[in-house]
Amino acid sequence: MNASSGAVSASGHTPVLYQNVLTALNLHAGGHYIDGTVGAGGHAAGILECSSPDGRLLGLDRDPNALELAEFRLEPFGDRVSLRHASYTAMHDEASALGWDRVDAILLDLGLSSMQLEDPKRGFSFRFDGPLDMRFDPDGDFMADELVNHMPLEELADVIKRYGEDPRARAIAEAIVQARPLKTTSQLAEVIASKAATKRKGIHPATRTFQALRIVVNDELETLKAGLETAVRLLSPGGRLAVISFHSLEDRIVKRFFRRESRDCICPPEQLICCCEHAATLRVLTKKPIRPESDEISHNPRARSARLRVAERLTTA
Ligand SMILES: C[S@@+](CC[C@H](N)C(=O)[O-])C[C@H]1O[C@@H](n2cnc3c(N)ncnc32)[C@H](O)[C@@H]1O
Repeated sequence: MNASSGAVSASGHTPVLYQNVLTALNLHAGGHYIDGTVGAGGHAAGILECSSPDGRLLGLDRDPNALELAEFRLEPFGDRVSLRHASYTAMHDEASALGWDRVDAILLDLGLSSMQLEDPKRGFSFRFDGPLDMRFDPDGDFMADELVNHMPLEELADVIKRYGEDPRARAIAEAIVQARPLKTTSQLAEVIASKAATKRKGIHPATRTFQALRIVVNDELETLKAGLETAVRLLSPGGRLAVISFHSLEDRIVKRFFRRESRDCICPPEQLICCCEHAATLRVLTKKPIRPESDEISHNPRARSARLRVAERLTTA
């Protein structure tokens, strides 16, 4: 299987681990597929090509701007594509609305796209001067400004430590609180740079704090947990779930979820008699995550931290 056009994106976003994803999803003609994070539609185009002539795709995204790009990109596939402005946590309802009880494969390509990162107005990047926004969905409840300018010191330090895993979290939070009010991403980046620990070449010292704020603004980790549960319920026996994560907090959630769902018993190890009544629903197909080759990273540096995990819905579950 080799889908040609999806690997190069006119929108500026290059889909990561492209061929690995298409192979992992075990695509075939007539299948029903969900891309829960359709973005600019790069992976989605490959899914549609590999399930020609009549495979169907439901693409979801929290960002209406992304959906516009996907609509343009996927236009040649006509009514084989349905795009919806929704979180992937709503995939069950959205699939039901199309009359789909089960689907053959689901992809979650987590995090943000190059278009989002490189649009100063979205406030995701410390490289530009933009508003403190960071919402995937412009209708989202609150912006990063709320955390940066109003969150109590202790809570802010906890957020930066927990979701940015930055050892200087407390010092960074203190510097932010002292510098309030902060208006833009570059003001914030400057304040963080004065305190952050990261000295590694090529990694900006504000990377971890920006990640932490984005995770909270979009409730990314709880959303991922809920999305994984929903995805498994929606898969047909033998159906595939592929998840690409970009940092260890996400990858840990996926790894633990796959491990739990591949076991018949999830009682704590010290408990001698099983009473959980849990039944395995998944077979894990990637003992270790698939990582991009150096060649891919050299063409698409964003792929550097990508990890792909794949599981298959058990036929007995
Ligand atoms: C890495 S990009 C996906 C790129 C896509 N695979 C492609 O090939 O163009 C991630 C996308 O997920 C979206 N997103 C993030 N959280 C989401 C959620 N909970 N539900 C739906 N989409 C989400 C973002 O808005 C972004 O467009």
